[in-house]
Amino acid sequence: MSESHLACVKCGHQYPINLINTRCQDCDEPLEVKFELGKVAKDWFQAQHADFFAERYAPFYSYLNPDPTLALGEGQTALVPSAHLKAKIGLKDLCFKNETQNPTWTFKDRGTACSIQNAAALGYKRFGTLSSGNMGASVAAYGGRAGMQTFIMLKDNVPREKIEALTVYGALAFKVSGDYGQLYDRLLEIGADYNIYFSLSDDPLRVEGYKTLAFELFEQMQGQLPDYLAVPLGSGGLWRGILKGFEELRAADITSTMPKLIGVQAQGNSPTVDAFEKGLERIERFENSLTLDHVLENPYPPSGNQVLRKLRTYEGILLKVNNQEILDAMLLLSREGIFAQPASATALAGLIQAVKKDLIASDSRAVVIVTGSGLKYPPVLKEFNFSMTSVELGQLPQVLESAIK
Ligand SMILES: Cc1ncc(COP(=O)(O)O)c(C=O)c1O
Ligand SMILES: [Zn+2]
Repeated sequence: MSESHLACVKCGHQYPINLINTRCQDCDEPLEVKFELGKVAKDWFQAQHADFFAERYAPFYSYLNPDPTLALGEGQTALVPSAHLKAKIGLKDLCFKNETQNPTWTFKDRGTACSIQNAAALGYKRFGTLSSGNMGASVAAYGGRAGMQTFIMLKDNVPREKIEALTVYGALAFKVSGDYGQLYDRLLEIGADYNIYFSLSDDPLRVEGYKTLAFELFEQMQGQLPDYLAVPLGSGGLWRGILKGFEELRAADITSTMPKLIGVQAQGNSPTVDAFEKGLERIERFENSLTLDHVLENPYPPSGNQVLRKLRTYEGILLKVNNQEILDAMLLLSREGIFAQPASATALAGLIQAVKKDLIASDSRAVVIVTGSGLKYPPVLKEFNFSMTSVELGQLPQVLESAIK
């Protein structure tokens, strides 16, 4: 099979590219897209291109037959230099990749934008996912726009405000009781039975969409890639996609640099970090997961073993942080003007911990991927006990005077 195909990330077993909802039948590991990366013009990234990812980075998506009308303006998010924080934490250079600017306010849109291309090209009329939060909203938005009937499967304890935020796009939401890990496996079968394209966290095309983060960073940093990239680690799909993007940039001879990834989990659900710390090759299921905004709560991440393998190849860093570190990082980010959700602040908290523990040198250049907006889950703001001043109009000048510094 030399043309574009899928291959198991572990054993390399090959599968047809149009196969969906499948993992390797031999080792139950995720699949990834393999394609012929032809010669990429040396100045490809300096030339003018459309914003639509499949055109802008066409050599890296040569296996797609893309339809730009399915896009929602995902990607092309700002790379914001730190104003105060880099001096405060003692880093030479620090930037934030502001993924809150995506159409449904998280990086998930990059992956969904690529999955929907595949679903439409294969003729699917039904689209869906398993998600208690951001992936659900993203799949609902893109599925609805593509005119597909869209099915979102949720844990049965998902709060109402999260469900409303995705049914507004017209998706059907199902609260499913039972084991969340088993639900993932069942959906692979149900998808095949009912012709539903489930874009799960390790859908190879979803992971392909995340490659654009690597390409954009290369563009925005004029080829001077950072030493470290901090990302929150859930299923591991984001980690895999960014790394694949950098690998392909190297394979295309566009760069020889490979930033080190710092993957960060919350202590409330740290299966990948724990496996790494114990020197295991396979992750173990995490019991009683609980995190601040619940989106990093998968107890048995589908791409976890692959993250461990890649980590050994490229010597990345894996860390876990506690809720206080996450909330502190959320406030620090807000003071830089970026309101992130706790899952996203997790990455910054990990970077700060890495600096404190001398795991990275102070003359390093780092980028934090701020994966999603704080407006995604406002209930967490009560953790801060913010105060407000109520005042009679007549008293305003005096009250203001006592407040002004
Ligand atoms: C805001 C946010 N950040 C990070 C992640 C982690 O991404 P992944 O599951 O691909 O590792 C998620 C996943 O749901 C998320 O919603
Ligand atoms: Zn395999």
